[in-house]
Amino acid sequence: PAPGWAIDADVVVVGSGVAGLTAALRCAAAGLDTVVVTKARLDDGSTRWAQGGIAAALGEGDTPEQHLDDTLVAGAGLCDEEAVRTLVTEGPDAVRRLIDTGAHFDTTDGGDIALTREGGHHRRRIAHAGGDATGAEISRALVDAVREAALHTIENALVLDLLTDAEGRTAGVSLHVMGEGQHDGVGAVRAPSVVLATGGMGQVFSATTNPSVSTGDGVALALRAGAEVSDLEFVQFHPTVLFLGADSEGQQPLVSEAVRGEGAHLVDADGVRFMLGQHELAELAPRDIVAKGITRRMHERGAEHMYLDARHFGAAMWEQRFPTILAACRSHGIDPVTEPIPVAPAAHYASGGVRTDLRGRTTVPGLYACGEVACTGVHGANRLASNSLLEGLVFAERIAADIAEVRPPRAEPAEASRAAGDPVPLLAPEARTTIQRTMTRGAGVLRSAGSLAAADEELEALHREAAADAETDGAKAVVPGVDAWEVTNLLLVSRVLVAAARDREETRGCHWREDRPDRDDAHGRRHLVVRIAPDRT
Ligand code: SIN
Repeated sequence: PAPGWAIDADVVVVGSGVAGLTAALRCAAAGLDTVVVTKARLDDGSTRWAQGGIAAALGEGDTPEQHLDDTLVAGAGLCDEEAVRTLVTEGPDAVRRLIDTGAHFDTTDGGDIALTREGGHHRRRIAHAGGDATGAEISRALVDAVREAALHTIENALVLDLLTDAEGRTAGVSLHVMGEGQHDGVGAVRAPSVVLATGGMGQVFSATTNPSVSTGDGVALALRAGAEVSDLEFVQFHPTVLFLGADSEGQQPLVSEAVRGEGAHLVDADGVRFMLGQHELAELAPRDIVAKGITRRMHERGAEHMYLDARHFGAAMWEQRFPTILAACRSHGIDPVTEPIPVAPAAHYASGGVRTDLRGRTTVPGLYACGEVACTGVHGANRLASNSLLEGLVFAERIAADIAEVRPPRAEPAEASRAAGDPVPLLAPEARTTIQRTMTRGAGVLRSAGSLAAADEELEALHREAAADAETDGAKAVVPGVDAWEVTNLLLVSRVLVAAARDREETRGCHWREDRPDRDDAHGRRHLVVRIAPDRT
């Protein structure tokens, strides 16, 4: 359908996590007319679920250089060193500005920011809030600041496609909005700068720590717009997600790495600490190594999960330091004060995404990407724990500075923009479970040429079916709506993810090929970049 309404702005920010709201606040502060659009409510994205915290060299004796070293090691040879240097050098001040914006972090008795440890960090470097509710506090502070600044926000707005002008420059986005009064139905925000901050794509898999809104919408939009996307094969599986049964699907409760940072042990059913001897940091090895250690032990023992044992913390420490996790475990009938917590890996974070430079620019002029949707090069093959909130902050500020400097003139979307028409064959919402199960079986924590080929075949069959249905516009035509769009996006990003995972014939970082168990530096030290011609999606 053609847009039924349109508004004009200098910048439209799509998404309302730490990256989106920081970008929006900074753009507005620079005098740019800024609109924030978000798929659900302002605080419904992944940011508010973040537990462990935000990493930055804030502690005595710590330096950006040491943070850089840990980030590069975790990234397994694929980080862009300049991007990492930017992240770790600008990080501490960006966190201080977040505090100035109103976020309250936990402090020591002496009034300094309290710091914890997580996997891959050789130092205590993780600032946290509310014990284990860091994301919730950051989200609260940013949402309050956005309301105070009276930014124009549109909630329940699913972004559909990028609008471009006659020269192929960004000219805004089309949106499907539900229940927001004057901006209802399909419409457009016309703006020469678009910041994608739509978060991740964890819903590609059956079990994930991500909320239901994480359906890869930004990556799918970027692919349809002809932007380059990179490193999609590197999906991070968080090692310790509360195990609720092998059939449990959708968002699963996270048990933060900070629990291990404070001394919890990973054990098997016999109480054996199986990470000892596997890595010098044992339970605090980089996340991919711990996820692999758990998965291997599960296979060896024929078990569905392992255990995280933190009974020695005692009730008082559990209540003060990890109240969110304590409540989540208890609500599922597990008391971490008296029993070990059953845990297994689940999909957690997309290290890849829409390729950007250090100013957050994508390969489409005027289109920026920031946060989990982006691939700035800071994560390489495996993101270091708690670097993601920091990346959202640092690169959001850089994007705002770039837009404020360039201040592109407003442009008219081209009449024939594909986004204003009927862009892709839409999938029926019921396909969501099929995609998730296919991806979990074929492209999950453990992959092989065979499993990936099978996943590829199933996904291509779904795509062919949707294309054939769209041609017949008969009884099977899908009603355009948020569910249909989300599933359509899930299918597109899944197809590209599987293609990249097939192409990377080695094991590196969080990409684990059981048929290619070794890292292959002769061929693997490269980024797999995908760009699809707009009419081929
Ligand atoms: C956690 O708290 O374990 C998550 C931290 C992260 O994903 O960076």
